[in-house]
Amino acid sequence: MSATTAPPANTHGKAAAIFVCVLAALAGLMFGLDIGVISGAQQFLQKDFGISDDTLGWIVSIMMFGAALGALVAGWLSSQLGRKRTMILGAVLFVGGSVVCGMAPTPEVLLVGRLVLGIAIGLASFTAPLYLAEVAPESIRGAMISMYQLMITIGILVAFLSDTALSYTGNWRWMLGVIAIPGALFLLGVAFLPESPRWLMMKGRDPEAEQVLQRLLGNRDAISREMGEIREQLKTPQRGVHMFFQNSNFRRSVGLGMLLQVMQQLTGMNVVMYYAPRIFQGMGYDTESQMWFTAIVGLVNVLATFIAIGLVDKLGRKPILYAGFVVMAIGLGVVGTMMRLGIHTHGEQFFTVGMLLVFIVGFAMSAGPLIWTLCSEIQPLKGRDFGIGCSTFTNWVANSLVGLSFLPLLNSIGQAETFWLYAAFNVVFIGLTIWLVPETKGVTLEQIERNLMAGKALRRIGQ
Ligand code: BGC
Repeated sequence: MSATTAPPANTHGKAAAIFVCVLAALAGLMFGLDIGVISGAQQFLQKDFGISDDTLGWIVSIMMFGAALGALVAGWLSSQLGRKRTMILGAVLFVGGSVVCGMAPTPEVLLVGRLVLGIAIGLASFTAPLYLAEVAPESIRGAMISMYQLMITIGILVAFLSDTALSYTGNWRWMLGVIAIPGALFLLGVAFLPESPRWLMMKGRDPEAEQVLQRLLGNRDAISREMGEIREQLKTPQRGVHMFFQNSNFRRSVGLGMLLQVMQQLTGMNVVMYYAPRIFQGMGYDTESQMWFTAIVGLVNVLATFIAIGLVDKLGRKPILYAGFVVMAIGLGVVGTMMRLGIHTHGEQFFTVGMLLVFIVGFAMSAGPLIWTLCSEIQPLKGRDFGIGCSTFTNWVANSLVGLSFLPLLNSIGQAETFWLYAAFNVVFIGLTIWLVPETKGVTLEQIERNLMAGKALRRIGQ
C-alpha cells in the first residue's frame, strides 16, 4: 500500500485525520458486531425455529463464507469501482443483511441474510484498511491497525451487551436487526468521504485527485509533494497474480501470510466468540449468567488488546506471540481438564470461567492484533494488495471452518477433548513461530522486502 508523505500539522491535516479515524472506527465496529451478535441470539432462534445443531452451525458459519467471498472480490471491485463505492456497496449490503436476518420467517431466509451480511463485511474488511492506508496521514498510520483491532473488539463487546440486554425477552430478531443502525451510520460516514487520491490517479483522474488533496492537506507544497510521491509509486504497478506465478520468494510471503491467519483462527478464539453462552451452559450456568459472563469475555477482550498496543513496538512481535500461545494453551488445557473432572461447586465454576478469561487475554494481547500487523508487513510492495487479499481470504475461510466444526466436535469427541485439541494447536504454534515467523519490529518494509527477495529464511527477513 502507499506510503505518503506526512502533511504539515495544519487544521486540514487534522480534519482529515479525524475523518479517517472515524471511518476506521466504524468499519472495525461493524466487523466486531457481525462476529459478536450471533452468540447471544442462537439459543433463542434455535428454540424458535426448532432447528438442529448442524443447521445452527451453518447459520453461524455461512456469514464467514460470505466474508471470504466478499474479501475475494473486494480487490477487483475496489480497483474497478473505486474504494468509496465499494465501501458504500458494503454498507448497503450490511444494512440490508441485518434487516433480512431480523425479519427472517424461516431458517433458509436467515441463512441468506447471514450470507449477505458476510459479503458486506468481507468487502468492508478489505477495502476500509486499504483506503485508510492510502489516505491517513503518515503520523497516524501505524496506530491505525491497532485501532482497527481495538474497534473490532469493542464491536464484539457492544454486540454481547446488546444481546445480554435483549436476552431477558429472548428477542433474537432485535438482536440481529439492531446492528442495521451502526451499518446506516457507516453508510452515512462513507458517503461524506472523498475518494482515495491514489485510486483517482491510478485511473488518470489527476485533477480530481488534486481537489481531494486540497481538502485533505490544504497546503500547495504538500499537495504537489504527495502527488509526486503517488506518481512515483504508480510506476510500480500491483502485479500480484503475475508475480505469484513468477516469483517463488513472493509465494513464500503469501504462504506465510495465509499460514499466520490459519494459526490465528486455530487458536480457538472464535469458538468462544460464537459459542460462549453454550460453553457457559456446559459449565452449569443458567441463561442469565451465561449472557453476563459472555459480556465479561467481551470486556476482557477489549482491555487486553491494550496490552498488545502498549508492547508491540517495545518487546517486538515474536516474544508477544510466544507469550500469547503459552497463555492460550494453558487456559484452554485447564478448561478442558475441568470439564473432564466435572464442575460441581461454585468455586470450580469460577475457576473454570477464570481460565477461559486467561485464554481470552492470551489471544487479545498477541495473535488478535499481531497477526494482522505481520500480514501487512511481510508482503513486497508490488504484490501487497494480492498478498493481503490472500491472507484476509484465508482468515475468513479458516474462521468459518472453526465455526462450523465446533458443535460437531463437541457432539462427537466431547467437550474436554475439543478444548484440549485447541490447546494442542497453540502448542504447535509456538514451534511454528520459532521456525517461520520473522521479527519485524523497527525494520523498514523495504528492508523486509530486500531480505525476502534475496531468498533469506522467512524467520530472518526482519534482520
Ligand atoms: C480475528 C477475529 C476475532 C477477533 C476477536 C480478530 O483479530 O480476526 O476472527 O473474532 O480478533 O477479537
